[in-house]
Amino acid sequence: MTRQSNFIRPSDWSTTEYEEAFRLADLILQKPEEFSHSCEGKVLASLFFEPSTRTRLSFEAAFNRLGGRVIGFSDQGNTSTTKGESLSDTLRIIEGYVDLIVMRHFLEGAAFLGSQVLTKVPIINAGDGSHQHPTQTLTDLFTLHRYHKLDEDLTIGLCGDLKFGRTVHSLIEALEIFGGRNYVCISPKDLALPDHVKSKITKGKVTYVEDLSEVMGDLDVLYMTRVQKERFVSKQEYERLKDFYILDQEKMQRAKKDMIVMHPLPRVMEIEKSLDRDPRTVYFEQAHLGMYIRMSLMMRLLGVDK
Ligand code: NCD
Repeated sequence: MTRQSNFIRPSDWSTTEYEEAFRLADLILQKPEEFSHSCEGKVLASLFFEPSTRTRLSFEAAFNRLGGRVIGFSDQGNTSTTKGESLSDTLRIIEGYVDLIVMRHFLEGAAFLGSQVLTKVPIINAGDGSHQHPTQTLTDLFTLHRYHKLDEDLTIGLCGDLKFGRTVHSLIEALEIFGGRNYVCISPKDLALPDHVKSKITKGKVTYVEDLSEVMGDLDVLYMTRVQKERFVSKQEYERLKDFYILDQEKMQRAKKDMIVMHPLPRVMEIEKSLDRDPRTVYFEQAHLGMYIRMSLMMRLLGVDK
């Protein structure tokens, strides 16, 4: 297995690297006990400058399950950044303590900066502002790979906050590596896909609509997102847009029998809870799969085979 240095954006990997990572994650899922010593003796730094439940805990659980140990923080208020230390100094100190760093930061480009200053250990981007979230994309693609072939001609609806939703930005970048898909971008105008993401769509086809009901029947996958409250400058603007889409039984009746509904979670109001019983909603399984693909990612970055 080749040693990979960092994982900052989805385009850091080729299709072959994704496929190898999925193969390894499939193996870990089948026989997790065979991997329980894979990262023994290694230490992961889990640095979360922004709130997280799934991403942080799935990374930490993943590394523990590989036999490694984890240090870190989930609240920047406890760190020396409050004394004025720069992010690059913090990272250069921490790289002397660990074998691998995973970092979520509220600033766009923070993980990239990390990759420029670190010389000894790999860094993984666990979300940088409203820019990218490549390990959620790994989770999303791994989920897709378990339901569909990644070279299938799928119509994928991306619904909600496409402006600030970093998971959508990263998912599009990754799907383009796989030849692009038919994207149906479903959002109010004020939450439309930003130009820097639109310009990445060179292989896939894209349509932009506002009405979810009207396109439900066309979709093979519906990727729902929450409106990203923390990125809004105006509380009123958030209140106006927060419940723009609510997926309910009525809309699901218009969907194909084998369509799947994904969501990076957390969910707020955009998917009715009663739909959790519909076998087409796969978001809880998606979150669960995230731990296995992160195990696979960390093994690759550390150059560990088993
Ligand atoms: C996403 C994120 O942090 O961008 N959450 C996650 O990591 N699963 C999506 C979100 O917060 O809406």
